[in-house]
Amino acid sequence: MRLAPARRIKGLITLPGDKSMSHRAALIGALASGVTEISNFSTAQDCASTLACLRQLGVSVEINEGIVRIAGDQTLKAPRAPLDCGNSGSTMRILAGVLAGQNFEAELVGDKSLSSRPMRRIIEPLQLMGAAIGSNDGKPPLTMRGLDRLAPITYQLPVASAQVKSAILFAGLFAAGRTTVIEKSPSRDHTERLFNGFGVPVTTNEDLSITIDGPARFTGGAITIPGDVSSAAYFIAAAMLRPRSELTIETVGLNPTRAAFVSVLRSWGAKISIRDLREERNEPVGTIVVTGGLHSAPRDEDRILSGSMIPSLIDELPLLAVVGSQVPGGIEIRDAEELRLKESDRLLATAENLRAMGANVEEFDDGVAVSGPTELRGAAIDSFGDHRIAMAFSVAALMASGQTEIMDAECVGISFPEFFGLLDTLAER
Ligand code: S3P
Repeated sequence: MRLAPARRIKGLITLPGDKSMSHRAALIGALASGVTEISNFSTAQDCASTLACLRQLGVSVEINEGIVRIAGDQTLKAPRAPLDCGNSGSTMRILAGVLAGQNFEAELVGDKSLSSRPMRRIIEPLQLMGAAIGSNDGKPPLTMRGLDRLAPITYQLPVASAQVKSAILFAGLFAAGRTTVIEKSPSRDHTERLFNGFGVPVTTNEDLSITIDGPARFTGGAITIPGDVSSAAYFIAAAMLRPRSELTIETVGLNPTRAAFVSVLRSWGAKISIRDLREERNEPVGTIVVTGGLHSAPRDEDRILSGSMIPSLIDELPLLAVVGSQVPGGIEIRDAEELRLKESDRLLATAENLRAMGANVEEFDDGVAVSGPTELRGAAIDSFGDHRIAMAFSVAALMASGQTEIMDAECVGISFPEFFGLLDTLAER
């Protein structure tokens, strides 16, 4: 994909449903009594992988005009072929939690990127609960043999990961007694909110422990998924970096464990307001309005992103590094070694591509330091087949001089197939 610089970002949009919530809502629907209807279901290829796996497990899933209808009162059936999770870590890890509680064998496979990602983080707790799981030295494919009654566990998460937490909470539905997961730092809490919304109480305590009492079953119902705030992030950053931009994004999910990047961008000088804030099915939703330009300089302490704030910024960090190249004094990201284990090594991909565009970047084991402000120049960008790298550097392309070529740009479909089309309608050249 070839991209030219833009003068400003202008328009009003709504976005397809949140990817993380869509995965979870589909899995909940498959396990619920009664019908579940999910409106504004994510258009991400990752969520299509989840639905395809559910169909292979015998679940009736109908899709009509963006509404996913999952028939109720079903029992999952042993799949006849390996379950293909595609590129989706959430599908493989959270579905493994569901399969731990099924009395049959199943194999979970993924694409090349997913096949190189660490799975011990879910294998260990699910084995403690009683599932038998084989792997390729801790990586996919996973061969699973579940039990319909698991042992409850108390488990301290070694890494802050919402996928691992969710795998254990889903397995907790099939446990005889109380399962407790203890987090290091708070990660996205959609699973907890959705479980409570669909009739399975989950308690979050001050010591970062989360409990669920099994066995438990969801009650199906209707839900509308809010727009994906991680998709919104690219347009918000682009609008912030182009003076005279005016961007409105309606009905976006504003869960604090996801929207932390908004506060970071504000601390770096962005003018972002939130309107019409409300709760829908336990999730905060609102309208985001961005007025272009950097309106103030950041304080020194705001230029460092580290520690317990990292999990709530995790998917936006490559984008924040790109924005950081425009921030007076630059920025630094630390404690983010998990980025090396995503769809690509996102620290390496971010550093290499920013350097290709003329930025001064230092790469650490657990982060990057980016000098700013830097005039970026158009370059050939290697997306590493990673949707978030492709989109972060599309934003960089809008403020670079000359043309930028994003390689393997179609990978944006993993989370946001409409990305380039919407960017084209919003960017004034
Ligand atoms: C996700 C959790 C995060 C995130 C991923 C989606 C989820 O991964 O990076 O894009 O839906 O739970 P980790 O749980 O590995 O941090």
